[in-house]
Parts: sequence; structure tokens; C-alpha cells
Amino acid sequence: MLNYPRVAIDFMNNDHAEFVALRKHLLDLLHRGADTTEVDAMLDSLLEHTRLHFAEEEKEMLAAHFTPYPVHKGEHDKVLADMTARIQTWKSARNTTTLSDWLEHAVRDWFVNHVSSMDFVTAAYIQSRSK
Ligand SMILES: [Fe+2]
Repeated sequence: MLNYPRVAIDFMNNDHAEFVALRKHLLDLLHRGADTTEVDAMLDSLLEHTRLHFAEEEKEMLAAHFTPYPVHKGEHDKVLADMTARIQTWKSARNTTTLSDWLEHAVRDWFVNHVSSMDFVTAAYIQSRSK
């Protein structure tokens, strides 16, 4: 179980729950030694989900004139670049341990930290502006 807070905006909570489910599904596939095509498809879904979710958050931040936008956007860009590189490495090296470790630890830590800090503050700000 990942321990992270609900934020003030529903679409963000829904997307976060979906991210958690995709990550869990991937870990389950890796633990039971699933076919690489299945893992690849789920990784592509995770990347696509993350890209769309970030884009949606960024649109909302811009619409609300959220001043710390560049900081939040910068972290999104860094995460997408890292995720893209990790998936590429997996597709050439096919190292299940490396991929599982990354999902298990780095992705978990990043997700919990990001939702608890940047997303939490951003959602509260956007919510207060829309009243
Ligand atoms: Fe975010």
C-alpha cells in the first residue's frame, strides 16, 4: 500500500489512484515472470497515463496563474525523461530486477513525495481560485 494524501481536486485523485493501480499491475507481472510483450504494453500505458496526467495538471496551473508553475513543470519534465529512459533501457537490457527495483523504490518514493508536496499545494491553490 502506498501512503499518500488526497488532494483538493478530484481528477487528480482519480489519476493518482490509476497510477497506483498501473504500478501494482506492473509489479505483479514482473513478479510472476510475465511475457515481455505484456510488460512492455503496461509500461507504455504507465508512460502515457503519466504524460496525460502531467499535461492536465499543467493546463490547470496555467489557467489559475499558479506562480510556482515552472518548478512543478520542471519536476514533471524530469520524471517523464527518466521514465522514458528507464523504459528504453528495459527494452534493450530486459533486466527484470533493475526494472522491479525502480518501480518498487524510486517510483514509490517519487510518487508519494510529489503528491504530498507539489500536487497537494497546487491542488489547494487551484481549488481556492475556482471558488
Ligand atoms: Fe504534479
